[in-house]
Amino acid sequence: MGTVNREHLKHVAAEKALFLVKDGMVIGLGSGTTMAHFIDLLGDLLRQRKVSRIQAVPTSETTAEHARRVGIPLTSLDEHDVLDLAIDGADEIDLHLNLIKGRGRALLREKIVAAHARRFVVIVDESKMVRRLGTHGPLPVEILPFGARAHLRWLASLGCQAELLREPSGDPVHTDNGNYLAMCHFPHGITDPYALADCLNAQPGILEHGLFLDMADTVVVGTEEGVRILERNTT
Ligand code: A5P
Repeated sequence: MGTVNREHLKHVAAEKALFLVKDGMVIGLGSGTTMAHFIDLLGDLLRQRKVSRIQAVPTSETTAEHARRVGIPLTSLDEHDVLDLAIDGADEIDLHLNLIKGRGRALLREKIVAAHARRFVVIVDESKMVRRLGTHGPLPVEILPFGARAHLRWLASLGCQAELLREPSGDPVHTDNGNYLAMCHFPHGITDPYALADCLNAQPGILEHGLFLDMADTVVVGTEEGVRILERNTT
């Protein structure tokens, strides 16, 4: 799929999700290139006065800056501890609507924001759909800089190749929270995401990971044949 076409599919997914935004809502705004389409479109909608009294909680400094630029009023989880809706992109989505997120570096705030939303909606182009998580790229894991080498060694013991995400200068990337990101490459993908998540959740110094399991309520997929809406089966 060409880049232009992929951008188009991200755009149509974002456009579709825009219909979920209603007057007076407080919404979580995710991060990444798909969300950039959504933020632009929401800014247009506000300028045209087609929706009003929207407030948004951004999941990254980049998203906050973009939202300010297009005139979306910002708030925080301290002012609104329950959000009506959270919208975000994803790196991979499997058949159960479980996700890998965080290759755009913002997974910790993204997971917090999604966890405090009444509904979590994910917008993607169809290239993100996978049979098994971890087959298209690494699992990002946010780690505390204190003991980074030890965290990487422990992560590798889980059967992956773990390396720090680095800037072009060679310095480790710092997240918006001042932490490091470990990129974990599983050679055959992640066979049991639930077991892996339990393991990661229990380990000191592992602050958060990019497995978003049983979190997405709705996934809006831009495909060559049009937009598909997938709802999580909760039964
Ligand atoms: C940001 O940290 C990520 O979780 C993004 O949501 C994810 O990487 C998708 O980004 P794109 O929309 O740019 O593919």
